[in-house]
Amino acid sequence: MMKLTPPMGWNSWNTFGEHINEQLIYETADTMVEKGLPQKGYEYLVIDDCWSLKERDGQGRLVADPEKFPHGMKAVADYVHSKGLKFGMYSCAGNLTCAGYPGSFEHEFIDAETFAEWGVDFLKYDYCYHSPIIPGKYLYRRMGLALENCGRDILFSACSWGIDETHEWIKTTGASMWRSTGDIFDTWESIKNLTRQQEKLHPYNGLGCFNDMDMLVVGMYGKGNVGLQGCSDVQYRTHFSIWAFMGSPLMIGCDIRNMSQAALGILGNEEVVRINQDRLCRQPVKLVGNWSGEDLLLYSRQLENGDIAIGMFNLGEGKAVARLNLDELGLPFSTGRTLDAKELWSGEKVEIKNATMIRELEPFGCAMIRAKVVRL
Ligand code: GLA
Repeated sequence: MMKLTPPMGWNSWNTFGEHINEQLIYETADTMVEKGLPQKGYEYLVIDDCWSLKERDGQGRLVADPEKFPHGMKAVADYVHSKGLKFGMYSCAGNLTCAGYPGSFEHEFIDAETFAEWGVDFLKYDYCYHSPIIPGKYLYRRMGLALENCGRDILFSACSWGIDETHEWIKTTGASMWRSTGDIFDTWESIKNLTRQQEKLHPYNGLGCFNDMDMLVVGMYGKGNVGLQGCSDVQYRTHFSIWAFMGSPLMIGCDIRNMSQAALGILGNEEVVRINQDRLCRQPVKLVGNWSGEDLLLYSRQLENGDIAIGMFNLGEGKAVARLNLDELGLPFSTGRTLDAKELWSGEKVEIKNATMIRELEPFGCAMIRAKVVRL
């Protein structure tokens, strides 16, 4: 299956871990629709690990846990589809999933058929307990092939955490997205680490196979399965901006049934999502700039309509001031052009003086800028 822009949706893991069931999924589907999330682009509802029984049935098929899902997975898929959403599930390239449920190793084709029968549209495929002998690229190719031959269009979401040089072979497997880093936790430290780890991997991101920086923690405030100390809304806004800017899939991880207005405002910022979903999916360019502060990242991306997106991400706990020479963006004075730039969270016009863009950033803050090329 070919997905042309980074997939968007919700995944159960970050908040609920093993505590998943039919009711939760139904309520989540209802709330996604009530809150208008599909119109913003969030279309997949994905059940992560811990949905099955610990044993396969007599035919070697995976069985949904009847206590958690008493009407079976087909009924869950039907409900999710009835809301206009797409339905995602989870398995693993190893003997067991990370939480110890049966994995798809040596059952790839039968599992892909089962998922197709249930009406699954998305498969997240993990890497725990995988064979120490068979290389990961073979394991992911197997499931990729199984999905392409199962009779249903199923998006393949690989999750080998960027290890074993995943970036070198993942595009050969049919995956539309691939986890490029380890697991996220609901802390600023974790967001910073994942952001930094991504720097070497930008060249591998792009159309058709997106670098997945892991599910979002926006709106968790320290509650749930990967919730530790939690983050502030300013930090969540910067986290979301980084993921959006870097072209990562945007999978919501909080309990959307009790979502704060602030979290909804962050996840629902259409102009920020539009940069993430830009159809050219160009990789981000790291800029040098000239800045004061402890830890500032500056990026640009050329967009489909000739605009330029500029991301300024203050990872430090002090204020920062960014100065960006337009030369670095391809617009020296000699071009007779400059930028008409707007910051997308505040709606403010961004100052440009002497071919230099200047912006002050609060601690942990960011600027997501969309700029038009105009005559001087
Ligand atoms: C791994 C993955 C997580 C989640 C868990 C489930 O750690 O990286 O995203 O799917 O497994 O057990």
